[in-house]
Amino acid sequence: MAEKAKIGIMISGRGSNMAALVYAAKARDCPFEIVLVASNDPQAAGLSLAEAEGIATFAHPHKGLTREAHDAIMHDALVGAGAEYVVLAGYMRILSDSFVDHWTDCMLNIHPSLLPLYKGVDTYQRAIDAGDKMAGCSVHLVTPELDDGPVLAQTEVAILPDDDADSLAGRILIAEHQLYPRALAQYVTREADPDWILAQVRQRALALDETHERASFGAPGWRVGSETTGKYFAYFAQSHHGEASMALLVKTTGLDEQTALIDADPDLYYAPKFYGKSGWIAIRLDTGRTDWDHVADWLGKSWRMVAPRRLTRMIEIADQF
Ligand code: GRF
Repeated sequence: MAEKAKIGIMISGRGSNMAALVYAAKARDCPFEIVLVASNDPQAAGLSLAEAEGIATFAHPHKGLTREAHDAIMHDALVGAGAEYVVLAGYMRILSDSFVDHWTDCMLNIHPSLLPLYKGVDTYQRAIDAGDKMAGCSVHLVTPELDDGPVLAQTEVAILPDDDADSLAGRILIAEHQLYPRALAQYVTREADPDWILAQVRQRALALDETHERASFGAPGWRVGSETTGKYFAYFAQSHHGEASMALLVKTTGLDEQTALIDADPDLYYAPKFYGKSGWIAIRLDTGRTDWDHVADWLGKSWRMVAPRRLTRMIEIADQF
């Protein structure tokens, strides 16, 4: 199994979500491990649980410190413990923009509502007062705006006729404990998920001028030009027998370039079946260390090779400046 993602958890109190993550991480096939539980409150109940489970803990009170100074102390502790992701689990402090920036795309939070509904506090009462039939919880990426980052996963929790905020909160908490470990596991393994990889390619292919997607023999492909006269500049290949499990196929200038690429980096490139003879090259996307800028460069190069002259002319002109 691949190396486990290293997680630093930040808490301020009870830490029941932290406990759910700690217990989930005990499973042998869990793709993450907890390297630190950090708190702004040395008395936080969750800290003693983490200690008892043999997990490193860190606490530093925020009193008397600026937000930036306290965040910098927490940041150093997380980095020092080797954390690659920060998971907020009832961390009751607003984080400074610089802390959030450091952990862009690597910091998750759980919030007890179906975001984008009911950001901030009193989520249960607000859902009940609104007459909602469903409440729930959301795991989202943390961005500078409070409770606003992209939602990764949600669980709906039915609101019962006689629910008050406490009874509803209790059931949502059960859902949180199920959702958080699952969402985190999914997130830290996203780069091996074919859907995620395809989405990365698609986004970069469709960012080029006048492109559209069309399947070719069942494989997603991207064309430049009109729907009727467009030409393919890329294909996404998945699980071809004996080849990489996922690869991007793009055009080279011909067999010489194709051979040179394969000689230079045989772990990354190979001649794809069916397309190899016409000088296409396959770039593996299943190595776990795909350089997405490199992929975007290849898509651009391949696009230029087949794009109509009126489109490439603009780029040639721009290149001169
Ligand atoms: C949870 O309700 C969570 O949704 C919110 O803070 C609470 C933390 O509880 N962000 P616990 O400390 O994990 O028990």
